[in-house]
Amino acid sequence: MEEKNKKVYVGMSADLIHPGHLNIIKRASKIGDVIIGLLTDKAITSYKRLPYMDYEQRKEILENIKGVTKVIPQHTLDYTENLEQLKPDYIFHGDDWKKGVQRKTREKVIETLEKWGGKLIEVEYTPGISSSQLNKNLKRMGITPEDRIKRLRRLICSKDTVRVLEAHNGLTASIVEDVSIKKNGIKKEFDCIWISSLTDSTSKGMPDNGIVDFTSRLNTIHQALESSTKPIILDGDNGGELEHFKQTVRTLERLGVSAVIIEDKKGLKKNSLLETEVLQLQDSKEAFSEKIKAGKLSQLNNDFMIISRIESLILQKGVNDALERAKAYINAGTDAVMIHHKEKDTSKLESFCKAYSLFKEKVPLVVVPTAYSHLTEKELRNMGVKVIIYANHLLRSAYPAMRKVAEIILENERAQEVEEHCMSIKEILNLIQCTK
Ligand code: SPV
Ligand code: MG
Repeated sequence: MEEKNKKVYVGMSADLIHPGHLNIIKRASKIGDVIIGLLTDKAITSYKRLPYMDYEQRKEILENIKGVTKVIPQHTLDYTENLEQLKPDYIFHGDDWKKGVQRKTREKVIETLEKWGGKLIEVEYTPGISSSQLNKNLKRMGITPEDRIKRLRRLICSKDTVRVLEAHNGLTASIVEDVSIKKNGIKKEFDCIWISSLTDSTSKGMPDNGIVDFTSRLNTIHQALESSTKPIILDGDNGGELEHFKQTVRTLERLGVSAVIIEDKKGLKKNSLLETEVLQLQDSKEAFSEKIKAGKLSQLNNDFMIISRIESLILQKGVNDALERAKAYINAGTDAVMIHHKEKDTSKLESFCKAYSLFKEKVPLVVVPTAYSHLTEKELRNMGVKVIIYANHLLRSAYPAMRKVAEIILENERAQEVEEHCMSIKEILNLIQCTK
């Protein structure tokens, strides 16, 4: 029986299109009109990494593939909403979703289709093709500065929480790039790299007081750029003189850094987590707003972000001062606000977040939960936080491990006893691939 004009629904992410996808589309188009439910960035990031191509790019490619009639957005991993609307006769999917995170989605699809007698047709996995291998190859090829810059905004738009981890050289950046775990079938990884002034200076044996100059910071940024494809946020201290900050913004966007965070402090730079008896001066709201405006005016790439860091809670100026500053910085055009806080008791931070959530005009909220590390990502998300920066943990964990090894060698007058604390020579030699 000729079954043309039946409705066939195919749900896809379609980031790295390969012959396996084409096979499904070809088979589906033999049966009827193929409607692709293209997963949005948000739907995809609910269970795996952000796709390389954004929704519009993926849509354009699919619309030009032979056999595709229409492409519509699928906003969740769950198909139900689109299926209830379209009531397709068939759904095509690769048979690989019987296992793993999509197993439940599949069961729900079968249940929903039963309501109108629709059928699920599963196409066998195309041998020799693996998205994860393509993904690895793509990572090796690297990323253009333009693509890297815009990934931070895309992450902020599509993820509930953007997770950032500190790196202070190429090796640590590659850890942020590669480390992932699977939890309840969902792949979890860090989204972004933080180039911290604290760990960048400490790893150079220097204090975090601005003595490590911008050229030297650039060197660290280059190492991170070389060994990763993830977006980078730079800790820009207070941004320096207004004229210099304008230049810094240009340099960073040219390199492909996604954002700079500048703090509203002035005078000799001091780390915000130091005890309060160390004198730290806050810039005026007005002067700092001018700096934000100047930075925003000088940037060429719309995706680059200038994030303003409010130090009022650090300097005991109170929640109201922090809120007023947030308003002023938003008016000046800041792309996000970082509210800094260094107490374990987070009541002030919580009052800030509560009042902030009532602002009519808001930008994403960023925090650095070093002092209040007991709060979970979920708790911070419920407070309205979008970006969480784990600002110093790779360096803080490496240092005690290295000291311990040094002590064990002294103790034993040989190195055999430290072997169990070390990677093997073979592993370290193979750690960095020459193709990287
Ligand atoms: C840094 O990581 O250098 C920061 C964050 O600025 S903090 O150390 O918490 O001030
Ligand atoms: Mg810093």
